[in-house]
Amino acid sequence: MYKIIRREQLGSQIVAMDVFAPKIAKKCNPGQFIVLRIDEKGERIPLTIADFDREKGTITIITQAVGYSSRKICAMQEGEAFIDFVGPLGQATEIENYGKVLCVGGGAGIAPVYPIARALKEAGNKVISVIGARNKDLLIWKDKMGEISDELYVTTDDGSDGEKGLVTDVIKRLADHGGINKAWAIGPVIMMKFVALLTKEYNLPTIVSMNPIMVDGTGMCGACRLEVDGNVKFACVDGPEFDGHKVNWDLSLRRMNIYKAKEAIALEKAEKGGLKWL
Ligand SMILES: Cc1cc2nc3c(=O)[nH]c(=O)nc-3n(C[C@H](O)[C@H](O)[C@H](O)COP(=O)(O)OP(=O)(O)OC[C@H]3O[C@@H](n4cnc5c(N)ncnc54)[C@H](O)[C@@H]3O)c2cc1C
Ligand code: FES
Repeated sequence: MYKIIRREQLGSQIVAMDVFAPKIAKKCNPGQFIVLRIDEKGERIPLTIADFDREKGTITIITQAVGYSSRKICAMQEGEAFIDFVGPLGQATEIENYGKVLCVGGGAGIAPVYPIARALKEAGNKVISVIGARNKDLLIWKDKMGEISDELYVTTDDGSDGEKGLVTDVIKRLADHGGINKAWAIGPVIMMKFVALLTKEYNLPTIVSMNPIMVDGTGMCGACRLEVDGNVKFACVDGPEFDGHKVNWDLSLRRMNIYKAKEAIALEKAEKGGLKWL
C-alpha cells in the first residue's frame, strides 16, 4: 500500500499529495510518470511525477478532478493509501545547458513543468516561465515557479490573475525578441497544439508532454499511440515527451475524445450512487 502522507487543496478542483514510495523516489527524474490504482476495482490512472524527495522517499502528484476516478483520488485524505503505485514510467526529460529556455505550463500542466524548469535552472539555463489557466482558482504553484525562474509571466483567460489572455500571447512577445534556444510546453492538448504551431513559426524547438488515453503503461496495449513525424509512437514508452512540431495534433485530439460519452455515463452513475468528492 502507498500511503498519502500530505494532502493539499490547491484550488477547488486540484489536489496535491505526497505519497510514500521510496523505491520510485530513488530513481525517478523530471518528465516521468506513475500509474496508480485506488483499490482492487480501480482503473489505472497515469499521473505525472510533479515533484520528488529522495530523502523522504516521497512522490508528489497533482490531480485535477475531471471524471470519476480523478474525483475519487481528490477525495482521499492523509493517512489513506493507494493499492498500486507503479513507476517511474516513460522517458526522462533531456536536461542540458541550452542557454535561454522557455517553460510553459497550462492548468494542471504547471505541476509537471515545474521539476523540468527546476532541473533546467540547476543545469545553468536562464529559465523564462509562462504559466496560464482559465482563472485564478486553477492557477497552481505560482510561487514555486517564481522561485526557480529568472522571469515568470502569468496569464488567465478571465484576467483574475496576471495578464488577461492566453499563454500564446506572451510567448509571441517573447519570441519576437528572440534569443530563446528551446521550449517545453505542458498542459491541455489544445494549448500544446497552439504553442507548438506558434513556436514553429519562430523555428524554436519545442518539447511537449502528451497525455493520451493509457491502459497498461508498458507499451503492450497500444492505447496511447500517437503519430509523430508520420510514425506510430507509444506515449508510455517512447514518451511522454515529443517534438511538438512533429505531433499529429488533430489525430491526438480525436483519440482523446473516444470515450467521452462512456466516461460521462460512469460519472453520472457514480454520482447517483452517492459519490461525494472534495
Ligand atoms: C502520462 C500522463 C500523465 C498525466 N498526468 C496528469 C497529472 O499530473 N495530473 C492530472 O490531473 N492528470 C494527468 N493525466 C490525465 C489523467 O490521467 C486523467 O485526467 C485521468 O485518467 C482522468 O480519469 P477520470 O476517470 O477522472 O476521468 P474520465 O471521466 O474517465 O475521463 C476524463 C478525461 O480524462 C482523460 N483520461 C481518462 N482516462 C485516462 C487514462 N487512462 N489515460 C489518460 N487519460 C485519461 C481523457 O481525456 C478523458 O476524456 C495524465 C495522463 C497521462 C497519460
Ligand atoms: S498505455 Fe498501453 S501501449 Fe502505452
